[in-house]
Amino acid sequence: MSRFAEPQADAFRRLNDSLAFDWRLAPFDVQQSVAHASMLAAQEIISDEDRDALHAALAVVAKEVSDGTFPFAENDEDVHMAIERRVTELAGEAGGRLHTGRSRNDQVATDMAMFTRQAALDSADASLGLVEILIDVAERHLDWPMPGYTHLQRAQPVYLGHHLLAYAWMLLRDHGRFVAVVDATGPLPLGAGALAGANFNTDRLMVAGELGFTSVAENSIDAVSNRDFVLDYLAAASTCATHMSRLGAEIVLWSSEEFGFCEVSDAWASGSSIMPQKKNPDAAELLRAKAPRISGRLATMYGVMHGLPLTYNKDMQEDKEQLFDAVDSLELVLAAAQGMIGTITFKRERLAQASEDEFLAATDVADYLVKRGLPFRQCHGVVAGLVRTAVSSGRTLSELTPQELADASPLLDAEGFYALLRDGAWLESKVSRGGTSSASVRAQLEHARTALQQAQAWPR
Ligand code: ARG
Repeated sequence: MSRFAEPQADAFRRLNDSLAFDWRLAPFDVQQSVAHASMLAAQEIISDEDRDALHAALAVVAKEVSDGTFPFAENDEDVHMAIERRVTELAGEAGGRLHTGRSRNDQVATDMAMFTRQAALDSADASLGLVEILIDVAERHLDWPMPGYTHLQRAQPVYLGHHLLAYAWMLLRDHGRFVAVVDATGPLPLGAGALAGANFNTDRLMVAGELGFTSVAENSIDAVSNRDFVLDYLAAASTCATHMSRLGAEIVLWSSEEFGFCEVSDAWASGSSIMPQKKNPDAAELLRAKAPRISGRLATMYGVMHGLPLTYNKDMQEDKEQLFDAVDSLELVLAAAQGMIGTITFKRERLAQASEDEFLAATDVADYLVKRGLPFRQCHGVVAGLVRTAVSSGRTLSELTPQELADASPLLDAEGFYALLRDGAWLESKVSRGGTSSASVRAQLEHARTALQQAQAWPR
């Protein structure tokens, strides 16, 4: 029997059915049904024979799902109904007992929590995989000077190892965010029923234990309404993808003829259909472009959830495509970043040439005067004057005469000034913790290694 006298309109079905995308939840749906059936029998809500029949049917479904032979039917609205229908075909009357004490509302929330947990674990692993690669590449380029930039203007020279390690720290923070997402999937929604709880003496802790949840959601209304963990994953993924877009953007710039700082390996580049000389850093460009796509999924999900009255609303079905697309996109982004950074070649000469620009030492000259007692703000003015004199006469700083230096400030002794400008001196003087002297970068590298090991030791 059905409550409805008329069939659903075609367009309504196309709007409403979710099977085309929520089939990805099938493995989790089967697992939770296995646990649910075990619990129903343990609580004497169904018989042991019914449980065994359900388990046998669910094992067949699991196999059909994994080898792609699951027989979908015309009327399957979503993955939950498809699996229940199939279980009933296989198990007969026992199949009709599977949905005892359960609603699709707590069921879908549970599937989504399980899917999100797996995605967060995978993203956490992939972030650390990239940290490991970055640390290795940074170590190999620990003391290669390059210009550091602000406003994309050469600012102060740094070591390439230092610059690469910046991304390692970003990804270590990303890892922390994905771990927090795993925590957010801890409380089990199942057992909340449609919204008010179940009319049976269920054992939710038993189900939680079997499915790897750490606790049970305490409020059935909240349990079926909650998609915070989806928002949390999308937020963590957006931040991570944003980091990767900055990495991609730098590789695009750096591999241009104009910079010439690096070359991506052939495996991560493509040619042009018309210009035979070209090697395009497509992977880096796509790293750049995926970030707004992923953060767009987050913005969409906030839009879906905002203003929704409790509890379950069909709007929430939209969570799936947003989440799945973000998960798939981020997986590709992190795999591409790993492959590209692991095989990239840096151009030592070009990096060094670009960092030899003496004007990059302007701050260091000012600090030299600070050490001789002049307040920093005045030093800034003295050096600005020196830069202007040099630029307007087409000279570099070290080409200024001792007289010009003395005119600029009596504290500016020529010997100290010229020594300061000699090769590399102003890189090695950045001795502060986290700074660019090679000793500081080496210490930082060790700190990053330790942070990586701690992150890897996180119990999953
Ligand atoms: N396909 C639905 C979804 O993804 C499952 C839950 C349906 N619940 C309901 N009361 N219609 O959200």
